[in-house]
Amino acid sequence: MTAFSPLSIGPYVVQPPVVLAPMAGITNAPFRTLCREFSGGKGLFVSEMITTRALVERNEKTMQLIRFDATEQPRSIQLYGVDPVTVGKAVRMIVDEDLADHIDLNFGCPVPKVTRKGGGSALPYKRPLLRAILNEAVTNAGDLPVTMKMRKGIDDDHITYLDAGRIAVEEGVTAIALHGRTAAQHYGGTADWDAIARLKEHVPEIPVLGNGDIWSADDAVRMMRETGCDGVVVGRGCLGRPWLFADLVAGLEGTGGYRTPGLREVADVMVRHATLLGEWIGDESRGVIDFRKHVAWYLKGFSVGSEMRKRLAVTSSLDELRAQLSELDLDQPWPVGADGPRGRTSGNNRVVLPDGWLKDPYDCAGVSEDAELDTSGG
Ligand SMILES: Cc1cc2nc3c(=O)[nH]c(=O)nc-3n(C[C@H](O)[C@H](O)[C@H](O)COP(=O)(O)O)c2cc1C
Repeated sequence: MTAFSPLSIGPYVVQPPVVLAPMAGITNAPFRTLCREFSGGKGLFVSEMITTRALVERNEKTMQLIRFDATEQPRSIQLYGVDPVTVGKAVRMIVDEDLADHIDLNFGCPVPKVTRKGGGSALPYKRPLLRAILNEAVTNAGDLPVTMKMRKGIDDDHITYLDAGRIAVEEGVTAIALHGRTAAQHYGGTADWDAIARLKEHVPEIPVLGNGDIWSADDAVRMMRETGCDGVVVGRGCLGRPWLFADLVAGLEGTGGYRTPGLREVADVMVRHATLLGEWIGDESRGVIDFRKHVAWYLKGFSVGSEMRKRLAVTSSLDELRAQLSELDLDQPWPVGADGPRGRTSGNNRVVLPDGWLKDPYDCAGVSEDAELDTSGG
């Protein structure tokens, strides 16, 4: 029995309505492939964010990051930009060169080096600038759907999501994802799901996707029911746990039956993940080195020992990875409590903004293009 209606993102039907959150350094093609294998091809899988300036300048690393697996359909790319003209050019390039099928715009990055320049989650405070960026994106996108992802605002005194939602509707954005935190919260505290419900009421014209603190399929179902949102976006819960996508599909389709893989199965997924990364990068060793950042997430809660964790953190070939994993007690069952929060969880930072930023939401002078450089995260 299907529990929830499908989500429409322009011409694309997402059934059940579940989306992999863009995560810089994580949701590259190999990770999306893994999650999609577990979901049986259901759901939508968004790329890590790509800065528009780097794309327009055809930065070599960026051009590698935007490569999709041949089986990905639709190809969802997330863009981050602060300059309307550059965003427009990047979108036009994607359309002209058939680089993706769906464009998501990131206005949620809380990293100080970005907000200090007026970018990321600081940007929606400047309403005209947000409008100009959305306008350029939608105009240049032609038939491609454009969605946006944002936070609630800068801090509790500078909430922007309702205004931003209205602007998005007026500019022809197809759907909005809301992470129920302010920039000041970073990843601390709990996500405010009431804000998701309020946005849903505020912009009934387009789908609203809820994001923040979905750690299990039951959380996803609860968010759908409690907020009335049209779909869920899941990030950190998938770190070292791509099979969560199987659970999310089962939960939202109402079929139940969740996964609790033992260490043997987890180790197989780890090797597969590292293998996919190597194939994607075109270098096995670099793939295994990139995989190191995932090791602690995969092994969370299992009895592994600090010595072995250290050795796994410096592995540089698939044979070495397999050999080390085979030394573990692979008969361990899924650890109790390993379904809880993982990844970044700290917060309550002061948001660093350009001088005078909050004086006037309509004065858009002074957003620096440097806000795009070396950016990562949301
Ligand atoms: C490591 C990491 C990288 C992230 N990178 C991005 C990004 O590139 N673009 C974006 O919109 N959000 C990014 N985010 C934010 C997530 O997409 C998501 O909004 C946030 O983690 C809250 O959802 P969750 O509670 O399901 O993790 C990132 C989060 C993490 C933990």
